[in-house]
Amino acid sequence: MKKPYRIVMLGRQGAGKGTQCSKLAATLGIVHISTGDMLRAALKTGSSYGLLAADYMERGELVPDMIILGIVHERLEANDCKVYGFVLDGFPRTLAQAQALDKFLEPEGIKLVINLDVPKEVVLERLSSRRVCTGCGRTYSILKAPMVDWSCDDCGEAVIQRNDDKPEAIARRLFLYDEVTSPLIEWFDQSGKLATVKGDEDFEVVAREITRVVDMVVT
Ligand code: AP5
Repeated sequence: MKKPYRIVMLGRQGAGKGTQCSKLAATLGIVHISTGDMLRAALKTGSSYGLLAADYMERGELVPDMIILGIVHERLEANDCKVYGFVLDGFPRTLAQAQALDKFLEPEGIKLVINLDVPKEVVLERLSSRRVCTGCGRTYSILKAPMVDWSCDDCGEAVIQRNDDKPEAIARRLFLYDEVTSPLIEWFDQSGKLATVKGDEDFEVVAREITRVVDMVVT
């Protein structure tokens, strides 16, 4: 398999998709497409779809496919995605999204789907202790706080708890993962594109394993 890379990262909320995708994208020089980050950025600029999505996100609900498909399709059409390739983080999450992705990428399709596998009790702990920077989005946790007063070490903006990292929203997100998103693991497995990586190891160990899987399939 040759460049451009076309990779999907699947995994429960809190599995480390964002953390690992950002490292992988930097290592390979590809585009990191996080639908969660795109929606949060849209909300920050006050765009109409950002405002519409905010209510769903705060409650831990999935944002309607119609909104998500529009923003993902537009992003995939951009030149950088075509030239360098991309890793998708948080998309697809429904069968309709997975089928639409196949269509967007015809005729080649996705090359590799990584299932970042982390048990529910581990993600629960990670999500409730996670804190994020309101400026650049850097992730911290109550165990690994910024150096000064909950201000980001990189950009100095406030580091806070995400609204959807409160207990009720976490429960709803994890329920939807089991009911709606996890069937995609089997769906992708049937097309022979799935590789599972154990995500409850040290960050560097997980990153190395992801790189190994990508190298095996992509080069
Ligand atoms: P999104 O922002 O994508 O959130 P998510 O899927 O809930 O994923 P998370 O960001 O919670 O977890 P992650 O796996 O990225 O973990 P992270 O690297 O941060 O989506 C938010 C919302 O947007 C959705 O709920 C929905 O409403 C909407 N949305 C987005 N996409 C959508 C779609 N396609 N369809 C419909 N709606 C959509 O790591 C978590 C924590 O663990 C961090 O503190 C991190 O430092 C820590 N950590 C990571 N790796 C390790 C490790 N190896 N060891 C110890 N700690 C670790």
